[in-house]
Amino acid sequence: MKLHLIAAVSENFAIGKDSQLPWKLSDDLKLFKRLTLNQTVVMGRKTYESISRPLPHRMNCILSSTLIDEHLDGAHVFCDKKQLDEFLSKQQQVFIIGGSSLYQMYLQQADFLHLSRVQVHIEAADAFFPNIHWQDWQLMEQVDYCANEDNQYPWSYQLWKKKEKND
Ligand SMILES: NC(=O)c1ccc[n+]([C@@H]2O[C@H](COP(=O)([O-])OP(=O)(O)OC[C@H]3O[C@@H](n4cnc5c(N)ncnc54)[C@H](OP(=O)(O)O)[C@@H]3O)[C@@H](O)[C@H]2O)c1
Repeated sequence: MKLHLIAAVSENFAIGKDSQLPWKLSDDLKLFKRLTLNQTVVMGRKTYESISRPLPHRMNCILSSTLIDEHLDGAHVFCDKKQLDEFLSKQQQVFIIGGSSLYQMYLQQADFLHLSRVQVHIEAADAFFPNIHWQDWQLMEQVDYCANEDNQYPWSYQLWKKKEKND
């Protein structure tokens, strides 16, 4: 199983504020859709609630200890990480799509990081991407985007690959 983490992060590594994304970046959402379509996506309960529905054309997995008895069309709900990992181990590719607790939980195991680096400092953010040990990662690709009427701030898409032990 190849494990991908995908996140949009500010200069101070904020990912969320008041249960929402702290920016409007339409091209980033399009890129997110392109990368995750027909894949398995994994999210925490709060991220699921911020999206408010399972993402279409993707296998949605939600980690939650409070949604267990709820029937969710189009999503699998897992009440603990062990149960979730058992399911994920049978998938070829998995995208962890947030939020903080899920990124924290899977960063160590990840093979790839897809980071949208948004050129803004977010004050009073309440969700953050965990600390990355950059020496463990190799930058494979970067694409820069300008701000415009559909994209509030300039940003860059970066694909990072975990270095092999003997790299
Ligand atoms: N910028 C980005 O790329 C990006 C991506 C995703 C989300 N976000 C933002 O991040 C924020 C939401 O993220 P968040 O970090 O606050 O929350 P989250 O990680 O999405 O969800 C946290 C919840 O996940 C469940 N959970 C976590 N670990 C668990 C475990 N071991 N066992 C069972 N359940 C577990 C718990 O749900 P229960 O309380 O139900 O047990 C917990 O309250 C929003 O602002 C959202 O917009 C940003």
